[in-house]
Amino acid sequence: MEDHIDEILIPRQSIAARVYEMAGQIAADLRRDADGEPQVAILAVLTGSLIFLADLIRQMPLMMRIRLLAVSSYRGRTTAPGELLIDRAMLGDLRDQHVLIVDDVLDSGATLTAVQQTVFAQCPASLRTCVLLRKDTVAAQTVRADYVGFDIPDKFVVGYGLDHDGHYRNLPDIVTLRPEVLA
Ligand code: IMP
Ligand code: MG
Repeated sequence: MEDHIDEILIPRQSIAARVYEMAGQIAADLRRDADGEPQVAILAVLTGSLIFLADLIRQMPLMMRIRLLAVSSYRGRTTAPGELLIDRAMLGDLRDQHVLIVDDVLDSGATLTAVQQTVFAQCPASLRTCVLLRKDTVAAQTVRADYVGFDIPDKFVVGYGLDHDGHYRNLPDIVTLRPEVLA
């Protein structure tokens, strides 16, 4: 697996430092929302956000529930997105909850836009969106993301939860793959 790596874009130490900062900021903002303990629902967009989620929420000392949403698109492995399928089976009831959407990467924005609409339809008390990565694309800038870990160039990356054809999620750094692996 390691010999498939082309370049380490964000090393694990930088990820850890940034996730620590984000967790502090988000927890402070959520606490400000309500007197004392807000009803917090953390909505993880599967599967790419799982590792980010695990590190983030363990540094947010708030009462919270984890909700899951599976979004898949009819897309080639690295090509443009198609129609989105949203599985709401583990979404739960978000009415009057302070919802934080957690996703791995904001690229075309199609996924986050669909997730935000799904949450709004449930009348949450508040809605915030947090992404680990945002690509340097015009489309990505048009979608509301309240917290962004890193702005990155428009490259295909894997690791720290992000995959290529389901693989590489367990790499601790965020990396690009060698061209022959992507082909
Ligand atoms: P969007 O809907 O185009 O914003 O794409 C968001 C989803 O596409 C992410 O949640 C990822 O699952 C996937 N994705 C986009 N770019 C990458 C990448 O560079 N590596 C791995 N997955 C990606
Ligand atoms: Mg994803």
